[in-house]
Amino acid sequence: MLGNFSYSNPTKLYFGEESLSFLNEELPKYGDKVLLVYGGGSIKQTGLYDEIMQILAENGKQVFEDAGVMPNPTVEKLTEGCQIAKDNDVDFILAVGGGSVCDYAKAVSASAFCEEDPWEKYFIRKEAVDNPIIPLGCVLTMVGTGSEMNGGSVITNTTTTQKIGRVFGEDVFPKFSILNPVLTYTVPKQQMVAGFFDIMSHILEQYFSNEDDNTSDYIMEGLLKSLIHSSKIALENPTDYEARSNIMWTATWALNTLVAKGKSTDWMVHMIGQSIGAYTDATHGMTLSAISLPYYRLILPAGLAKFKRYAINVWGVNPEGKTDEQVALEGLSEMEHYMRTLGLVLNIKELGATPDMLEGIVAGSFITKGGYKVLTKEDIMSVLIESMNQ
Ligand code: NZQ
Ligand code: ZN
Repeated sequence: MLGNFSYSNPTKLYFGEESLSFLNEELPKYGDKVLLVYGGGSIKQTGLYDEIMQILAENGKQVFEDAGVMPNPTVEKLTEGCQIAKDNDVDFILAVGGGSVCDYAKAVSASAFCEEDPWEKYFIRKEAVDNPIIPLGCVLTMVGTGSEMNGGSVITNTTTTQKIGRVFGEDVFPKFSILNPVLTYTVPKQQMVAGFFDIMSHILEQYFSNEDDNTSDYIMEGLLKSLIHSSKIALENPTDYEARSNIMWTATWALNTLVAKGKSTDWMVHMIGQSIGAYTDATHGMTLSAISLPYYRLILPAGLAKFKRYAINVWGVNPEGKTDEQVALEGLSEMEHYMRTLGLVLNIKELGATPDMLEGIVAGSFITKGGYKVLTKEDIMSVLIESMNQ
């Protein structure tokens, strides 16, 4: 049975090959001082930087730049960005990049005028934002996180070795996001497939919970089937517009808060994955792929009916003459085959994790309660060890 909920999403989306031109409709709504936030330079190589600078100039904007946002953005970088935003009293933030750039822009948006340490206030204590917020918009260049239409912001503290996500309220969601699938063609293959698995993981984190009949579960099965289908095509042909556009749309729906409504969610894979990320600075999607199968095999007995449904409805496993457990395990084998086909990392050693890090990774993994099994610290350790052996 669906629980009680309210639903709205304030982000306006512009989707398609012509979507960048809609910046001309959005920019006039905000003040003249724009902070352009971007990553390590891919937007300069692809020419997107020049295109956007031209649009900003045509709209009479005074542009300040905050470049060099790294994958897994850090607290140090956040401090720098807040300073630039505050010193120049910017009216608007335009984030151009992947999830890291978009997440980071949200953190700057909420933190620039925070009078305390924003890491402590907004990421550790998760307090409501009570200072002025700088509105932001996003031009997405890499697909996976769903950051373009949610309040998520994940920041890494390299001093304390913590990677912590914060879900900000609607006032920090991007005011608009521009989703042009063509802009994702240049994403390197390993990043591309990591993004694909991030999408899958977001869906599964919300799917593997509850045992009731729930509309969201049917929606998620559809999203998963579309993702699996299109990702195989994109792997062969990264410039297949149909596949890349379907994947881009699936990524947005996987984590724009809709499918979580009225049901509980798990997020344990992300909690362990983030802790691995804090220790290794590994690509987010790969931290998830390396632990998902050991985690799901561990919780399978507690959520057997759903794992059986997953095997049949998503992976097309034929249940005839098999026990529920056999069907469920066959589903995970199909998933493993798919993951190997994409070339995902399945072993945390390949991400730079070493045995001496394991205790710290376990300690840094927040334990969630919405899934089929509330994990113990020993369970988390067993997942990590399994990953090291697969
Ligand atoms: O920095 P540049 O030079 O732009 O290169 C980036 C970066 O090296 C490159 N890239 C992006 N678009 C490109 C491109 N290269 C060529 N052509 C393009 N069009 O890709 C690399 C990775 O980018 P990044 O933004 O780090 O990837 P992703 O989108 O996967 O974001 C990962 C971050 O998002 C967080 C993760 O924890 C991680 O910090 N997440 C955010 C979530 C949210 N907001 O809800 C949820 C997720 O679960 C996730 O935790
Ligand atoms: Zn994720």
